Amino acid sequence: MSDLASLEQRALTQLTASADEAALRDWHTQYFGKQGEILLAVKKVGEVPPAERRAYGQEANRIKECLTQAYEKALAAEHEKKLARDLQSDALDVTLPGRPARVGRLHVATRDMRRITAIFADMGFQVYRSREVEDDLTNFELLNMPPHHPARDMWDTFHTTTGGVLLRTHTSPGQIHIMRECCPKPIRVILPGMCYRYEAITTRSEIMFQQVEGLAVGEKVSMTDLKGTIIAFARRLFGKDRTVRIRSSYFPFTEPSIEVDMDCLVCAGKGCGLCKGTGWLEIMGAGMVHPIVLKNGGYDPSRTSGFAFGMGIQRISMLQYGIDDIRYFWANDLRFLSQF
Ligand code: DAH
Repeated sequence: MSDLASLEQRALTQLTASADEAALRDWHTQYFGKQGEILLAVKKVGEVPPAERRAYGQEANRIKECLTQAYEKALAAEHEKKLARDLQSDALDVTLPGRPARVGRLHVATRDMRRITAIFADMGFQVYRSREVEDDLTNFELLNMPPHHPARDMWDTFHTTTGGVLLRTHTSPGQIHIMRECCPKPIRVILPGMCYRYEAITTRSEIMFQQVEGLAVGEKVSMTDLKGTIIAFARRLFGKDRTVRIRSSYFPFTEPSIEVDMDCLVCAGKGCGLCKGTGWLEIMGAGMVHPIVLKNGGYDPSRTSGFAFGMGIQRISMLQYGIDDIRYFWANDLRFLSQF
């Protein structure tokens, strides 16, 4: 019994002296490990004379219980102390202004494309997505440009190594796809998307750019409808006082063909640097769908007519924001992109 008493005393003194968690764990191994002193003391009950066994056993268990509790208390206290130390040493000044997270945004081309899409959606135009990899037939021939037609020179083309397969040079071949899909029903769609041209890259021309094509096909679709649609579009996008001017032009897939100018955003027609003194800015090509194109789409040109237009979206954004170099759009320079 006196052995037990001195064991308890020694263990408690040593526990109190343990300076950190490692020392505490060592202590625990020394007393409670497989060869621990407590275990040995409990086992010793067999050597005690039978008359004292019960008292010895009870006392050994009491000490075991008491030391276990003391250990757990000491360990918890040590954890508290460590936490307090950590809080002190890693102290954080929450009054410092935070670093603002950089918030992403839509690319200016995506945003403007969506604005334009929304304007046409309000006028009842649906969006038709057409492929970017086309064949010569659809990109040129069915649009009334047979092989060797001189008008093909207007579109310098990326050809693939597969004969007749190319990257579309404009969104107009989508007209053929939608007409063949919808014929004989009437059509009112826009066809937005990327186009590709094998061109020298300059401030005004890129090898890739986005167009929005428009197509309306039905009975008695007229040039007046085309004009009204274009004027409504220009006023929604550029402001309610805009006026447009129509010039005659030539495209193989429209007859008659027109080009549409809008009064200059900067000088409102007086003549300035942006409009090169003319007072007008070119915004799109358009016209009445050529009878041959209607026929290629499956429609009967004697009963059906249509209008079409096509515009370069980057050119429109450039006009709107006074951007003087088309190469900014795909250069991924945040100094440019974060302005929109
Ligand atoms: N596809 C023409 C181009 O890329 C633009 C165009 C002109 C589209 C007249 C049309 C149109 O639908 O009627 O230059």
